[in-house]
Amino acid sequence: MKTLTFKRYGKSPEIGFTDAPRPTPKDKELLVQVHAAGVNPIDNMIPTGLFKAVLRFRLPATLGSDLAGVVTEVGSRVTRFKPGDAVFANIFDLGTGSIAEFAVVPEDAAALKPANLDFVQAASIPMVGLTSWQALKERANLRPGQKVFIPAGSGGVGTFAIQLAKQLGAKVGTTTSTGNVELVSSLGADEVVDYKKQEFENVLRGYDAVLGTVRGTRSRSPSTSSSRRARSSLWSGRWMRPSPALEG
Ligand SMILES: NC(=O)c1ccc[n+]([C@@H]2O[C@H](COP(=O)([O-])OP(=O)(O)OC[C@H]3O[C@@H](n4cnc5c(N)ncnc54)[C@H](OP(=O)(O)O)[C@@H]3O)[C@@H](O)[C@H]2O)c1
Repeated sequence: MKTLTFKRYGKSPEIGFTDAPRPTPKDKELLVQVHAAGVNPIDNMIPTGLFKAVLRFRLPATLGSDLAGVVTEVGSRVTRFKPGDAVFANIFDLGTGSIAEFAVVPEDAAALKPANLDFVQAASIPMVGLTSWQALKERANLRPGQKVFIPAGSGGVGTFAIQLAKQLGAKVGTTTSTGNVELVSSLGADEVVDYKKQEFENVLRGYDAVLGTVRGTRSRSPSTSSSRRARSSLWSGRWMRPSPALEG
């Protein structure tokens, strides 16, 4: 089968399609024929070696984390799926990769694909969906009426997180460039700052939490300043405190 692999970590990872044997699922794994694979920023970062300390894959390693496809084989101890099931999954830390004709997926990393999503739509969801759910629900425990600042609202995480936060009953503030103001408003954002025209620090007030979705010192600084009350924000899995400016 064809897979998209990288051969080494660093500046010249030698990314390219290669032929590899079709994998065999273990007891608690599925073999999935991939119909669509999603690509996230982390898929670009892994070959650079940025995460080598925690994600050290056997090389050459197949790229890709998100997928949607059809189960073709199940391991002997799989109980929730059968061949023919349409599923979607995230396999980002396994080193086996989703950008391939077939992928091995642990049973607990997969879910049935909702019938109202096609394969491409479903493959765009797992990583951003898990990120948003873990941050907003499991970590921040966002409650109705709370205010959450989700910068970069038009991005993969932002578009999902805005909708999830609204579903949880929160009020959402976001930033975006001029061309995407309408998009983020249509997703339900209550306060939209066009960062090409305004500084969000001068507009947004009284926020309870911040989801860190923008790289760089400037976008991080508000959440790293000291605050009077221990409200919470998230940057790549770490909790920080929002600035007095955002607290209002
Ligand atoms: N994708 C994931 O599942 C995931 C998981 C964990 C962490 N992350 C991290 O979260 C960050 C965002 O990921 P993503 O997948 O959402 O990326 P993405 O889809 O590439 O979106 C990035 C967004 O950033 C916006 N942007 C650029 N400069 C901005 C600025 N100065 N202020 C506000 N918005 C700005 C762009 O929107 P405009 O065109 O409107 O400017 C763009 O839509 C990345 O650093 C990534 O590593 C992502």
